[in-house]
Amino acid sequence: MSFTIAIDGPAAAGKGTISKALASHFSLAHLDTGLLYRAVGAQVLVGANPLVAAKSLHPETLEASTLRSPEVALAASKVAVLADVRNELLVLQRSFARRPGGAVLDGRDIGTVICPEAEVKLFVTASAVVRAGRRYEELRRIGTVISTEQVLADVLARDARDTGRAIAPMVPAEDAVVIDTSDLAIEEAVAEAIVIVQKAREL
Ligand code: CDP
Repeated sequence: MSFTIAIDGPAAAGKGTISKALASHFSLAHLDTGLLYRAVGAQVLVGANPLVAAKSLHPETLEASTLRSPEVALAASKVAVLADVRNELLVLQRSFARRPGGAVLDGRDIGTVICPEAEVKLFVTASAVVRAGRRYEELRRIGTVISTEQVLADVLARDARDTGRAIAPMVPAEDAVVIDTSDLAIEEAVAEAIVIVQKAREL
């Protein structure tokens, strides 16, 4: 039986942590769809054509640690406005979503475009200042030298591009449950998400 959890929301809101925790708690496979766009963006930074890069993507071999830089994030959000790139990545995301045993996918358009039929849809958000603070700490941990002001500017620029694009803009699905993590510890946000999913599994 397939069971899909769609998790959307802006940068550094806590989607990744919640997705991984849900996948582990309910024994589901997890796909961080942002990594797909980051991988295409990274290829474009070294001169590749975006569509060619999207077509030659091997999701199972993506190395997350090399894709976490602010430059790659920005490049990802630029290729993410391209219809042909999104269409190319749609097929593999949909097939991942319906794998037997169930799956958690996190991104920007999972509940609206990739899996409108998902059994659970969450939209995880937080204020831009809180998100920038979290992303700054994450980047520092992996050794990136950057100022908090720059991280906030990057987050705001990416939010604007992701919400303002014509195709698959970032927007909560009508039936998504919104979790605002601004004032929540990550354990509290995870606990809230687990309760929501548990209820849906019992239906
Ligand atoms: O980790 P973070 O939330 O900062 O970003 P990400 O999830 O890795 O996504 C990087 C960029 O890819 C986003 O800013 C979006 O432009 C794009 N993206 C998208 O358009 N659709 C998705 N389903 C996932 C990511």
